[in-house]
Amino acid sequence: MKIAVVGTGYVGLVTGTCFAEVGIDVTCIDIDQKKIDNLKQGILPIYEPGLEEIVSRNVDAGRLHFSTNLGEAIQECDVAFIAVGTPPGEDGSADLKYVLAVARSIGENMTDYCVVVTKSTVPVGTAAKVRREIEAALERRDADIEFDVASNPEFLKEGAAIDDFLKPDRIVVGVSSERAEDVMSKLYKPFLLNGHPIIFMDIPSAEMTKYAANSMLATKISFMNDIANLCEIMGADVNMVRRGIGSDARIGHRFIYPGIGYGGSCFPKDVKALIRTASENGYDMQVLKAVESVNEAQKSVLFDKVSKHFGGELKGKKMAIWGLSFKPKTDDMREAPSLVIIEKLLNAGCSVSAYDPVAIQEAKHSLGDTITYAKDPFEALIDADALLVVTEWPEFRAPNFGVVGKLMKEKAIFDGRNIYDAKELAELGYTYHCIGIKT
Ligand code: UGA
Repeated sequence: MKIAVVGTGYVGLVTGTCFAEVGIDVTCIDIDQKKIDNLKQGILPIYEPGLEEIVSRNVDAGRLHFSTNLGEAIQECDVAFIAVGTPPGEDGSADLKYVLAVARSIGENMTDYCVVVTKSTVPVGTAAKVRREIEAALERRDADIEFDVASNPEFLKEGAAIDDFLKPDRIVVGVSSERAEDVMSKLYKPFLLNGHPIIFMDIPSAEMTKYAANSMLATKISFMNDIANLCEIMGADVNMVRRGIGSDARIGHRFIYPGIGYGGSCFPKDVKALIRTASENGYDMQVLKAVESVNEAQKSVLFDKVSKHFGGELKGKKMAIWGLSFKPKTDDMREAPSLVIIEKLLNAGCSVSAYDPVAIQEAKHSLGDTITYAKDPFEALIDADALLVVTEWPEFRAPNFGVVGKLMKEKAIFDGRNIYDAKELAELGYTYHCIGIKT
C-alpha cells in the first residue's frame, strides 16, 4: 500500500510517520519547500516526544519520503490524507481554503482510484465539499476516474501523539462505499492488534464525532473547575471529591482534574466551532456555552488568589512562573492559560520571571521581552514574592523546598495544577494556595 499525507503540521507529520512505522510507504507533502528540506535532514517543525527518532528511522528505511510535489505523489497512492490547517476565518469559522485547494489539486492530478480522507478537524459537511471539488477538477480534465472520500478524525494528544496513534482507543472512519471501507480496513489493520475497534459510520457522523469528543472532554474539565471553586467556598476538598466520583465507572478517573482552564489548539477552537455550527443551524448549545464561559473565568482564578493574598497591592512585586506551555510535554503556547495570567500580573504592575523546559522560544513570540526568562526553575525564584505553578511539568513535582524557600523573598506558592501536598508545605512554612481546596 502507498499513501500520501498532505500537510506536514502536527497531525500530518504524526500520521505519516506512524503509518511508515508499520511498514507502509508514505509520502508527506507540503508546499513549504523549507519545511520539506528541513524534514529531509531530520529537522522537525514541532516538538513531540519520540517523533524525531521515528522520522529518521523511517526515512533511513526508505519508507518515509518528503516532497513538495503533490501531483507526483497522488498518482501512485491508494489513500491520500488531507491534513492541512484550517485557521479560523475572520468570523471565527474554520477556513477551508487550504483543504479545498488540496482537493482541487488531487482532482487535477489523480490517475487511478484513490480514497481521499479528511484528517484535519473540519466542520460537518466538509467531506461533501471535498468530493465536489475533486469532481469539478476531474470534469475540467474530462477524466473519468473513480474515487471515494472518507472522514477519519484524529484523537491525538500533544505530548502523547505517537502512542495515541500506534495504540489507539478506537479509530473512527466515515465512508460512503464498501470499496473505501475495505481500503481503510486494510490500512488500519496493523493498529488494531490491541483489540480496540475501528468504527465505520457515515461521513457526517464521523465528522461530528470529533467535535462531540472534544466538547465532552472540555465539558468534564469545566464541570470539575466549577465543582472545585464551590468546594473552596464550602470547605470541601476537590481531590477527595474527584476520587469519590471517579470511582463510579460511569464517570471515570480521567479528565476530571481541576486546574486553571483548558488551553491548546483543539478544545477552545472545537468548542467554539460546535456552538457556531449549531447556531448556524438554528440550535442553541447551552451546555457548551457555559463550558466556554467557565473556562474563560477559570484562567483568572490563580491571579485572583495572588491578588487577594497581597491585598491587591501587586505593584513592584516579582512573580516567578513555572510552566508556560498549555500543558506538559509540548512547546505549544496556543490559548495557554499562562498568557492570561501573565498579562494580568503585568497589568497589575508585577515583574515576571518564567521558566519552562521547552516552551520559552515559543512563548517569546507572544510575550517578547515583557517578562524575563530563567534558564532553570531555581533562577526564576530569586527574590520572588510568590511562585505560580502554571504547567505541571514532571520536573516541578518534587523540588527541594529548602532551596526554593531560601531563594524566594516570601514563601508563597500558588499552584494552578494541585501538584503539591498542602499539609507538607504548611509544615515547611509556606503559604500554599491551590485549586478547590481550602488552605
Ligand atoms: C485534545 C484531546 O485530548 C485529543 O483527544 C484530541 O485529538 C486533540 O485535543 C485534538 O483535537 O487534536 P490536546 O489539546 O493535545 O488533546 O490536550 P489534552 O491533553 O486533551 O489537554 C487539553 C487541556 O485540558 C489542557 O490545557 C489541560 O491542562 C486541560 N486538562 C486536561 C485539565 O484541565 N484537566 C484534565 O483533567 C485534563
